[in-house]
Amino acid sequence: PLPPPFQVPLPRPRVLAPVAPGRYEITQRVADIEILPGIRTPMWTYGGTFPGPTIEARRGEPITVTHRNELPVPTVVHLHGGRTPADSDGYPTDLVLPAQWTAGHHAMPDPRAVRTHLTRDYTFPHDQRPALLWYHDHRMDFTAPAIWRGLAGLHIVRDDAEETLGLPAGDRELPLLIADRAFAADGSLDYPSVDGTLRDRPGVRESFLGGVLGDVVLVNGAPWPVHEVDAARYRLRLLNASNARHYELEAVTDDGRRLPLVQIGADQGLLAAPVTHTALPIGPAERYDVVVDFAAVPVGGRVRLLNRLGSGRTTDVMAFRVARRVRDDSRVPAVLSTDLPAWDRPVRVREFSFRAGQLDSGHGGRGWLIDGRPFDPARTDVTVALGDVEVWRLVADVHHPIHLHLAGFRVRSRGGRPPLPHDAGLKDTVSLRPGEAAEIVTRFDGYRGRYLFHCHNAEHEDMGMMANLEIT
Ligand code: C2O
Ligand code: CU
Repeated sequence: PLPPPFQVPLPRPRVLAPVAPGRYEITQRVADIEILPGIRTPMWTYGGTFPGPTIEARRGEPITVTHRNELPVPTVVHLHGGRTPADSDGYPTDLVLPAQWTAGHHAMPDPRAVRTHLTRDYTFPHDQRPALLWYHDHRMDFTAPAIWRGLAGLHIVRDDAEETLGLPAGDRELPLLIADRAFAADGSLDYPSVDGTLRDRPGVRESFLGGVLGDVVLVNGAPWPVHEVDAARYRLRLLNASNARHYELEAVTDDGRRLPLVQIGADQGLLAAPVTHTALPIGPAERYDVVVDFAAVPVGGRVRLLNRLGSGRTTDVMAFRVARRVRDDSRVPAVLSTDLPAWDRPVRVREFSFRAGQLDSGHGGRGWLIDGRPFDPARTDVTVALGDVEVWRLVADVHHPIHLHLAGFRVRSRGGRPPLPHDAGLKDTVSLRPGEAAEIVTRFDGYRGRYLFHCHNAEHEDMGMMANLEIT
């Protein structure tokens, strides 16, 4: 029994309190969560909730997060969009083992590469622009079902400069983690794993090779929620945490008008200047920081956030009900930031293809390849010198949201043309459209070590579309 849309109140994920200055603890455990009203859904959680608790951080202030794994399988935490030293970046075989798991277990991808822990400290220096990041599981071959079961949470980096801009804040800043899910009749999450224990055998059933979609759209863990708002500007911090679903979001009033979506930020923080959209495409793992002004909506009126790419129930995302007229002192300045790098002197151009293909072994059958090869933790695919500026040309067969760890990038071109309006700013995930080639430019900056780039369609990632990037 699915609830009608726009009835369940929008939850705000709780903010995690430090256990000491700069120190946080999260226990990963199974919990029954009420997602659909009146029904318990067993999930894998960070700290007993879905989404996990939000970490509020400040630029330049390092923190350590101790994760304890009480789940029945190994896990590994990655801070998506974090400028993180390699040993805290959550490499897919750098596992936090559960208590009942022994190091010699046959499911280990490579026992020598595996570190065993019941708890693990992850250190995040936050030497980066303020932005909405998110943390999620990244275990080799099992990332998609682990995120689907609930292992995702928000991590927000802030700084003083951003806070002096006068953007909507407090109750008028809403982080919105959007994720689709499917439910079985008993309320459990429905995912087409070949082996539901997620211990040994990875993969999804043949017909889901393209990715797994749900028919219920959750925002902050609630199905098609509604949120009461003032007739004022709101800052919506959108994250598409879906495994495979792409959305094209629009904010539509009762009388069919589309409210402007004033984009102020991208994956990696503020744009130079606002960009106004009427609809905003968002692929898996992308974030958009958007201001919507409800001032022109009559009290009692409703604004629906809709998905133009959906059909039936996946057309609806959430709604806002305008409750009262208020004074609004917030503003959207014409200049938002002045620190975006130009990177106009790349030293090198590389090209990578992202295509379906045949896997060699283990997974059997077809999978997803980068330059014709599936992910192999024992192989270095690209070596880059720390500090080099490079252009990467990414070529896709079908939709692939491509994500680069460590380094934010700018989109230089799409299909030989200038980037699209929503490509503005500093990103860490670029959504390649079918048959498209896009060029990104970045400086490999921050830390040396082994990092990753991969498709963030989580099923594609699990089925091989990931590669190793060594920064030396
Ligand atoms: Cu959001 Cu490599 O991940
Ligand atoms: Cu893909």
